[in-house]
Amino acid sequence: MTENDFLPKPYTTTVENGAVSWQSPSNIALIKYWGKYGEQLPQNPSISFTLDACHTKTTLRFSKKNTPGSNYDFEVFFEGVKSESFAPKIEKFFNRVETYLPFLKHYRFEIHTENTFPHSSGIASSASGMSALALCLTEVAQMFTTEKLSSEMFLRKASFLARLGSGSACRSLEGPLVVWGAHPKISTASNLFGTVFPFEVHPVFQSYQDTILLVDKGEKQVSSTVGHNLMHNHPYAKQRFRQANDNMEKLIPILKSGDLNGFISIVENEALSLHAMMMTSMPYFILMKPNTLEIINRIWKFREQTGSKVCFTLDAGANVHVLYPISEKEQVDHFITNELQSFCQNGNYIIDHTGLGATRIEI
Ligand code: DP6
Repeated sequence: MTENDFLPKPYTTTVENGAVSWQSPSNIALIKYWGKYGEQLPQNPSISFTLDACHTKTTLRFSKKNTPGSNYDFEVFFEGVKSESFAPKIEKFFNRVETYLPFLKHYRFEIHTENTFPHSSGIASSASGMSALALCLTEVAQMFTTEKLSSEMFLRKASFLARLGSGSACRSLEGPLVVWGAHPKISTASNLFGTVFPFEVHPVFQSYQDTILLVDKGEKQVSSTVGHNLMHNHPYAKQRFRQANDNMEKLIPILKSGDLNGFISIVENEALSLHAMMMTSMPYFILMKPNTLEIINRIWKFREQTGSKVCFTLDAGANVHVLYPISEKEQVDHFITNELQSFCQNGNYIIDHTGLGATRIEI
């Protein structure tokens, strides 16, 4: 498929006003997207667990303007309160997707959004937020035509649009494992949108647990977008993109067989490679905090002492995602409360697990 497949046919129906609502999950990458080109296209394939507990619910209300303006007309309400802070990101998103959603300047929008996770938790809400908004807009677009998209094409289009809002958002529509980015061994994977990992997945990975340790809830000093851009002249970029491709190839049989040792070595290698890219870019930066390292060392020690299969991954921040099979839940819960919780800011953490993706909400 190409970008052109997402261009709409001329609209045949008009709608005065309406409202749609979607709930989208967050996701945590096992193989990381870090580096992009063109319009939000990834330099390497990535794969993520879709999370269940951390999600965004968005309701989009729309009403036709008397005359289409030259600007986008929207207001954002975050948890019931009008918020200006999301406006620049949404304006940029509308600009990028207008070709595919040519009705945007003809309507006034109210975007009501809320998260199940605390806003200032340091957890990126852009993946769940952008995918929920993209799903709402895809549903609105369907109202202007009698030719309805198949459910597969609907999700592809929404994922394609979500990607233009935030790359990782295109992996936040389905579950439990979503791939984004072309790979020679995964013929269904595309740079344009996320798709469900198409091969057999061992049951152990269908109920994987993720406890997110909130090490630092402050604003990140360097945004993901800036970090991605620093991969452009990065001395190790080429090797990093090759490494992600190799790790993806190795992960396919691991996901099938349930080889947890293999899983651990790839997932932790990816997390540390992502942060290594940050530390070796120019300018260089460090998003891990001392407590991030404390937690990593404790996890390694615990694994060595108990034979547990617990492991960690990191996103672009100081928080640690502690990953483990559901069979170890009790043991790892104890370990977290006894040994790791004290390294979290105000002792905060969020218990999550893999989920199946976004859902439409009847309003
Ligand atoms: C480290 O998707 O937040 O979480 O496309 O600029 O919005 P933009 O970046 P974003 O980057 C996510 C980076 C990551 C790895 C990943 O989720 O694959």
